[in-house]
Amino acid sequence: MISKDISLAVQHLNQNGIIGFPTETVYGLAGNAFDTEAIHKIFEVKKRPTFNPLIVHIKGIEDLTQVATEIPPIAYELANAFWPGPLTLILKKQPYIPDLVTANQDTVAVRVPNHPVALELLHQLDFPLVAPSANPFKSISPTSAEHVENYFGNQINMVLEGGECSAGIESTIIGFENNRVVVYRLGALALEEIEKVSGSVTLLNKKDKKPIAPGMLLKHYAPKTDFILTRNVQEELDWYSDKKIGLLLYNSFMPDFERKNQIVLSEESDLKIAASKLYHAMHKLDKMNLDLIIAERLPEYGLGISINDRLERASKK
Ligand code: TXA
Ligand code: MG
Repeated sequence: MISKDISLAVQHLNQNGIIGFPTETVYGLAGNAFDTEAIHKIFEVKKRPTFNPLIVHIKGIEDLTQVATEIPPIAYELANAFWPGPLTLILKKQPYIPDLVTANQDTVAVRVPNHPVALELLHQLDFPLVAPSANPFKSISPTSAEHVENYFGNQINMVLEGGECSAGIESTIIGFENNRVVVYRLGALALEEIEKVSGSVTLLNKKDKKPIAPGMLLKHYAPKTDFILTRNVQEELDWYSDKKIGLLLYNSFMPDFERKNQIVLSEESDLKIAASKLYHAMHKLDKMNLDLIIAERLPEYGLGISINDRLERASKK
């Protein structure tokens, strides 16, 4: 059930329930961060392996020490600069954070979401919320209440309506290792923005065998329809001319191809707008009964890097 009723959401969360809730990045599947019953339900409904830890959502930087400890000064600088917002920090956890949240690691992921409904909800609760993206493991993340309802329906207590997500891709996840800022997952906050505050950051090698953040899992964010990523859309169109194709394009339509099977992410070449529309477009194309989706690679700077990361993972077999 989709509803705007925040007090109903509070009731469910106070009674071991789990709900879909809006954030500026994607919708989350939320439960009380201290309630192992609720957390078990989240893993079960999402079919997510328990070795994959969850992000804790707090209402403000003043609650950070409830969740984390040994917080380095640079973490405070980044939190002050970007919270509420799409930046998740990996920090040493407080001992009472359930092991289920952190997958038995001694670190915890934490962020303050920048969405009025999420913030109002958190203010009305006396605990933080754990929330993975509200999609079954490995499928496309949800950017509207309807996406969540379509995925989970009656398996969850409700979906709190908050409109379309403004950022549209997940938060950027960073940690702190030996005085370096390490990027675990590219996301809605561009690395260039982070570097203005922290100096240069280190990107975790994609080929690292054991992903610390399974957001780095190679196959992820994937539609059911076959999906390829290319710099040269025309070449792929020629190659697959016998197939029913949908196009996911950056800034312009292909002139000689059926319009209704094409989605352009941003005619004004604005990467922020492109990010905000990405998953919505992938959901839409995935529902069109196509044989193949051909996605165009975006420019490799700013949020283009994060979007290409998602497109690459979606295209992995
Ligand atoms: O934008 C977002 O981050 C959304 C919204 C709902 O806040 N949440 C989200 O959660 O994307 P999820 O569970 O889909 O992705 C969380 C990522 C996972 O890749 C997980 O491995 C990583 O965060 N993570 C969580 N705790 C971690 C930890 N202690 N160390 C390293 N990675 C961690
Ligand atoms: Mg996810």
